[in-house]
Amino acid sequence: MTGQIRLDEHLQRYSTTAPHAPAVSGAIDAIASAATEIADLIATGDLADASGLTTGRNSDGDLQRDLDVQADMILRRRLGSLPIAALASEEMREPQICDREAKICVAIDPLDGSSNIDINMTVGTIFSILPAPDDLDLAFHQRGSAQLAAGFVTYGPQTSLVLTLGDGVDIFTFDRRADCFRLARSGVQVSEACDEFSINVSNRRHWDPPVRAFVDECLAGVDGPANRNFNMRWIGSLVAEAYRILTRGGIFLYPSDARPGYGDGRLRLTYEAHPMAMIMEQAGGSASTGRERILDLSAQSLHQRVPLVMGSSAEVCRVEELHCDPLLVASGSAPLFARRGFFRV
Ligand code: F6P
Ligand code: MN
Repeated sequence: MTGQIRLDEHLQRYSTTAPHAPAVSGAIDAIASAATEIADLIATGDLADASGLTTGRNSDGDLQRDLDVQADMILRRRLGSLPIAALASEEMREPQICDREAKICVAIDPLDGSSNIDINMTVGTIFSILPAPDDLDLAFHQRGSAQLAAGFVTYGPQTSLVLTLGDGVDIFTFDRRADCFRLARSGVQVSEACDEFSINVSNRRHWDPPVRAFVDECLAGVDGPANRNFNMRWIGSLVAEAYRILTRGGIFLYPSDARPGYGDGRLRLTYEAHPMAMIMEQAGGSASTGRERILDLSAQSLHQRVPLVMGSSAEVCRVEELHCDPLLVASGSAPLFARRGFFRV
């Protein structure tokens, strides 16, 4: 049944369910069309003069590649004529106010994981759709729990759109022969059984003790309090890590660390952590800073960073325990019962 349902049919059905739904559907449809254009560009790479080479820095100081700029232009062109009140992008210093009468606001990370473009690895587009508040200056200062929809596209061996409209998570894969996205998996659930962790270990010496304690527990495997072995994966593209977690469980961490500029981690709250958190929770997983639920947070500024821990709930919960109870960390490792006794399985 899944492969029979096209994205446009799914959106058409949803668009009758609420006053804001037609605008949300329209925005997702435009993002999906932009995604096929971006996928083409990435697939052609050097042959289309889209090399992934660094061209400068964006307004927030991140290295910017030619494809970051092109993806941003493609998305803004596709979204530009729609009823959208405000549009924010990683590549723009300030949000753009578009149609004051419109019911929704859209935030995008046009090309996530762009440091992976020039090596032919999976990258993606992330988006978050919010209701338009009366005061549009507050458009991107809402709690993550206000999101109406969120999703991301992966440009990898498959071009796939992971989507939540607030009622579970579905994955649509682009069918090149039919030139449309088709439902590949519906009601995606993050597996509870998690034995894969993902973190950039090169930063270990800069981490806070609770993060170090958690990773040490994973590394200790069957000889430690987790009582099972873990595998490790680090792709360096948030979209690819999230897709892996949705497929086979696991935990991803980009914590704060002691390097200058990393006091709040690296990832952005509005167009990276919020949409990922909505997707994780809608799939039965969790997303946290280590201390707080990501969806309870609201950004003070558009490009605000936030520590992100997401994936299988039991492991995210373990990271939170280690942050909240310094005694667990100070004791070198947690008492065994905290991981596998009467209180946890
Ligand atoms: O958007 C930021 C990003 O590219 C994510 O996709 C990825 O998880 C992270 O940066 C990688 O950061 P680092 O290069 O520090 O490991
Ligand atoms: Mn990104």
